[in-house]
Amino acid sequence: KVVAVIMVGGPTKGTRFRPLSFNTPKPLFPLAGQPMVHHPISACKRIPNLAQIYLIGFHEEREFALYVSSISNELKLPVRYLKEDKPHGSAGGLYYFRDIIMEDSPSHIFLLNCDVCCSFPLPSMLDAHIKYGGMGTMLVIKVSAESANQFGELVADPDTHELLHYTEKPETFVSDLINCGVYIFTPDIFNAIEDVSTNREGRANLRRLSSFEALQSATRTLPKDFVRLDQDILSPLAGKKKLYTYETNDFWEQIKTPGLSLKCSELYLAQFRYTSPHLLASGDGKKNAKIVGDVYIHPSAKVHPSAKIGPNVSISANVRVGAGVRLIGCIILDDVEIKENAVVINSIVGWKSSLGRWSRVQADGDYNAKLGITILGEAVTVEDEVVVINSIVLPHKILNVSVQDEIIL
Ligand code: GDD
Repeated sequence: KVVAVIMVGGPTKGTRFRPLSFNTPKPLFPLAGQPMVHHPISACKRIPNLAQIYLIGFHEEREFALYVSSISNELKLPVRYLKEDKPHGSAGGLYYFRDIIMEDSPSHIFLLNCDVCCSFPLPSMLDAHIKYGGMGTMLVIKVSAESANQFGELVADPDTHELLHYTEKPETFVSDLINCGVYIFTPDIFNAIEDVSTNREGRANLRRLSSFEALQSATRTLPKDFVRLDQDILSPLAGKKKLYTYETNDFWEQIKTPGLSLKCSELYLAQFRYTSPHLLASGDGKKNAKIVGDVYIHPSAKVHPSAKIGPNVSISANVRVGAGVRLIGCIILDDVEIKENAVVINSIVGWKSSLGRWSRVQADGDYNAKLGITILGEAVTVEDEVVVINSIVLPHKILNVSVQDEIIL
């Protein structure tokens, strides 16, 4: 049997995702119309002999309860949310729930970060992992040398694929091959995590005995039950014939900012062409609006037949789109109203917001720049004919004058 664990983090981790993480935990923010965590979960469906999926995090339980029960029904597979009382780190969180995870006596455990967007080639990772015969195999990808330092950089043996060297977010360039945050382990991973905490405790005790200065530094070290997968496990075990790599040539992105979520929504919409074509809107469907490229429209949304939508648009539940509206490269969240002839380009429009007639909400679409996309928080009102360009607007604001390159607090 195999189980899958998805690390969903907690509220303190989502600060870069503001203002979109104010009322929805980041893992439930919709990309291509589905909660972020839905994409790795549906990829898990392709794993042979999968017994359970666990989400581990320190968000409030109630925030995940509804989602977890509906996705369990949909997949006919138990999905459980396991809540940590405090953050234990990416490996410590896994270890904290080891008894529950081992209930089905799995031979293999997949571990996925929730904030990565990729094709999750899990069955082929499993095959590769079995062939390598190590304790763990991680998904890796080549990125540009300039961007590599935002990730774990690594060196792998080109023939055996063994992980030879690993450094988390190094200051000087190591390699353009990086860690994708998707792993498969044998249950031996729990012993490796336990060794880290035992050693840490041992070192702390030793220092405490030696001198006052050492005592001070010991108190500054991490608590024994806080274990990071990258620094504490991957780095020390590299080059010991325990860890291997599996390189993907498909798409891969990290989802740390709203700008990147727009990019990832686009990537998942494109993937729907192969995995879930029924989720993509078609121009001649019952909605009748003109559809260009990849577009998702929730069945409860009402789109006027004279609107033109796409490419790369996703429209959530109960949205109303008026006559003559033009939408390009955007995410429109639940209960938004977009009135006649409004235009939205490269933007995210927050829940319950309202865009007036002939208004424009737009940006250049540079996903990596701070104001490269326009974001309207929850319940923002843009009045008729007002233009909002490259700006971030916090929840509940009413805009009656046009703004550009501004953060409206
Ligand atoms: N449950 C739980 N508890 N989850 C956690 C905790 C914790 O205490 N700490 C982090 N996570 C989750 C995050 O939500 C995320 O899904 C994942 O673990 C990794 O988060 P970080 O440890 O903050 O690392 P990162 O995202 O900056 O970088 C990691 O992922 C990159 C790929 O996206 C590293 O492993 C990089 O090397 C890697 O390139």
